[in-house]
Order: sequence, then C-alpha cells, then structure tokens
Amino acid sequence: MIKNHIQTAPAFPKLRMRRNRADPWCRRLIAENNITIDDLIWPIFVQDSDVDREEIPSLTGVNRLSINSLLNDVAEAVELGIPMVAIFPVIGKSLKTEEAEEALNPENIVCRSVRALKKEYPDLGIMCDVALDPFTSHGHDGLVKNGYVTNDETLEVLCKQALVQAKAGCDIIAPSDMMDGRVGIIRQSLEKENFQNVRILSYAVKYASALYGPFRDALGSNLNLAAGDKKTYQMDPANSDEALREAALDISEGADMLMVKPGVFYLDILRLIKDQFAMPTFAYQVSGEYAMIKFAERQDWAQKNQLMLESLKSYKRAGADGILTYAAIEIARIIKSHKAI
Ligand code: PBG
Repeated sequence: MIKNHIQTAPAFPKLRMRRNRADPWCRRLIAENNITIDDLIWPIFVQDSDVDREEIPSLTGVNRLSINSLLNDVAEAVELGIPMVAIFPVIGKSLKTEEAEEALNPENIVCRSVRALKKEYPDLGIMCDVALDPFTSHGHDGLVKNGYVTNDETLEVLCKQALVQAKAGCDIIAPSDMMDGRVGIIRQSLEKENFQNVRILSYAVKYASALYGPFRDALGSNLNLAAGDKKTYQMDPANSDEALREAALDISEGADMLMVKPGVFYLDILRLIKDQFAMPTFAYQVSGEYAMIKFAERQDWAQKNQLMLESLKSYKRAGADGILTYAAIEIARIIKSHKAI
C-alpha cells in the first residue's frame, strides 16, 4: 500500500515535503507519535536508612530515597498524573545472603514502601520486580549451586517473593529474573491466593546487556557478581527469533503485559513483539541509556532534554505502550508545561 502511494504521489513541485514542516503548529498537528504523561512509568530506588536522600553518582539526578522522601517525591508524580511507579530496593550489605531470605520478609523495604504508598496514594499503580539480585550476596537473580544459577529451586523462592509483594498491595508483579517457567508458577500462586487482579508484566525479553551498570551500582549488586555475568539466563544480544519464543511462552503462562529491555538498542525487537502478539508492550530505558544521555547533556553535546525526548519518541515509534524511565518526572514536567516537545 505504501509503495503504491509513493508511486502515485505527485512529483515536485506539486509535492513539497517541506510545506507541512514549515510551522510549529503544523508540525504538532501532523506528529504521528507523541509522548504523553500516561506513557510514563517511574522507577525509584528506596533504601532503609536514616539518610533521607542519597545521590547515585552514575545516575545524574537519581537518588536513593528513604520511605519519607519516597512519599514526598511521589506526591509530585501523582500531581503530574504519572500512572505508575516501580519500586527497586537498595538492601544493606548485612541483609544480603546467599539465599536471599530478605526478599521474603513481609517487613522488607519493598513491602513497607508499597504499603506506605498505597495508603497515601491509593490511585497510583505500583509495580515491583521479582528477582533476587537486590537481596543476594553474590548479585545473581537466582540461587547459585555449584557455580550455576539454578532454575527450579529459584522458582520456588520467586513465587514466595511475588506473593509477599502482592500481599503488601503491589498491583503489577514484574518478573525480571529470566528463569524458565516463572510466569506460570507465579500466576498459579496468585490465583490460588485470590489475587486474581494482580497483573503480571513479564520482562519477557531481557538481554544480557552491558547497559545495566549504573543500576547495579545503585543497588550495590555489581561488585558481587563473582560469577561474572548473567548470560546463562538473560538473552544473547545477537538473537531476535528467541525473543519471539520467550514472549510466546510468557503469554501462554499467563502474562498480562510484556516488556522489552533494554530499549534503544532493541527497538527492532520491540516492534517485532508488538506486531506479532498485539499485547500491552512496555520498554525499559535502562540505567546505562539514561546515564549516556545525561553524560552527553553535561558535555553540551545536546540541548537539554532534546536527546531524552528523541530517545523516548523512538520507543513510541517502535510500538511501546509505555516506557520505564528515570527521567519520568522531568519529562512529565515538560509535557505538563506545554513546552514544545
Ligand atoms: C534485576 C534488574 C536489573 C534491572 C532491572 N531489574 C538488573 C540486572 O538484570 O542485572 C536493570 C535496570 C536498569 O539498568 O535500569 N534483575
């Protein structure tokens, strides 16, 4: 169809492509993809600490927050109309163990944050990761036996972690661990415990990317990755057929929504998944992407916010229904102020 249209389109000067680009109002009018506040999911780091707010050096403008600061900062997110936040825990070294027991503690920082947020902001969506890496001394997403991250043993713990979070009031459970079978077993437990409306947003397609560095820095889970990397469970960046198989599997196991991660190096995958499955599909602008953009801004290589906005538009073009971004608040402020975006 497109081909025909191009063949029958009038030639220059009847057609001047620049006509429609001549004025800002017209460019706004014909824009095919816009970022709206409804597209934004704000990931937040919370920590159990007397310090209210601690900067994360590798993530300009992002802080580790106490529960008090969390409640304080989320007020602006709610005011701006951001639909959902994602909670990531920063666990003190003394609480990290081989088997991640703290992940199952109903009084852990994730559960307390969720309860506090739900009480203060009942209409805000809350999403929690299911994966053990914030809680393990070795930094892996699962239990390690003989140097290998076990699958089936890990599933049992993940299931309990998901339930603890659902009980605390989490709306969306987001398994980010890439173990086989986790969506199915989590769905089963949620149904059994009467959490029929707790959604599962599966990190269905998650690559073993070098872009997670600042995130691991923020969590303090980097130094401990003794076994080196996560390539025995996260996907090889060389593959795309495999992404389809991963997504199909998670849908069959009961996922309500899918995620592709990272984002900007994987937009082909995002488009593929959206077209193939027509599911609510999200993408994560991960810490390394965010940090690179902020770095470029600091060097004056790009006008403030322009690079960030351009990046987020590329997600929308590729089919994202929503985007996790550490820049959610600043972007929402720009949208709200009706500045040209
Ligand atoms: C945990 C998890 C990671 C991220 C989100 N959840 C890190 C990892 O898999 O090592 C990365 C997010 C980011 O880089 O912003 N499994």
